[in-house]
Amino acid sequence: MSEIDYRERLRSGFDSLLCGNDPLQSVESWIWSELQVGSVSREHPWNLGCLSSVEKTKEGMHYPRSRTVVLRASDVVEKTLDFHTDKRSAKMCSLLDPDNETGVCWLFYSHETKIQLRMDASYRILDSTENRAYFEATPDPSKRVYASVEPPGKSLAAASMGLFDIRVESALANFCVVRTKVHYVDLVMLSPNGNKRLGVDYQTPSEGPKVSWLVP
Ligand SMILES: Cc1cc2nc3c(=O)[nH]c(=O)nc-3n(C[C@H](O)[C@H](O)[C@H](O)COP(=O)(O)O)c2cc1C
Repeated sequence: MSEIDYRERLRSGFDSLLCGNDPLQSVESWIWSELQVGSVSREHPWNLGCLSSVEKTKEGMHYPRSRTVVLRASDVVEKTLDFHTDKRSAKMCSLLDPDNETGVCWLFYSHETKIQLRMDASYRILDSTENRAYFEATPDPSKRVYASVEPPGKSLAAASMGLFDIRVESALANFCVVRTKVHYVDLVMLSPNGNKRLGVDYQTPSEGPKVSWLVP
């Protein structure tokens, strides 16, 4: 499917939900089925998300920090979304800090669909055995990204990729999978027929997701 087809599918999928008998009943499974497609199809608007975390500066100030990441996996049962990253990156300094009690936030948006999906999540970093399995399944060109000698964000004298340590074990040591667990979803759709907004709350797992319309 092309990028245009995926956008069309996303927008028309939501529109037909709205026309159905009980949109609140079906929207949650629709969101997770689209996230599943987003995690495996580069052309899907939700293949790239914006991931925000809270970081502490040397001066002790807390700032939100956002960056684009690839959605690598989604689990509809566990309500988890994965991304892959370099353990040495700035985001990981805060996510690995044991005193950090903040969560993360995902944002998916595409201009063409006018659908915004925002999700609050907690996270865990997979252990070395789990990381190895995902690393081995990563295509070689992507493994190379984790093999820079200097950490991401380090200054360079000129625009370049920096030096690489081509040993696979070095790249593996820098690679990690972050598994985020979604606790709340906020979906907004802008439309000339009237904007729509709804929330999905997972805070009480025994009761299942609580879906409700919200003022847009
Ligand atoms: C299209 C695109 C996809 C990206 N995917 C990832 C990714 O999957 N994981 C990642 O760690 N960084 C990814 N990046 C780079 C991040 O946006 C960011 O620059 C980098 O992770 C450093 O972020 P930090 O300094 O906040 O840790 C991607 C950037 C772009 C432009």
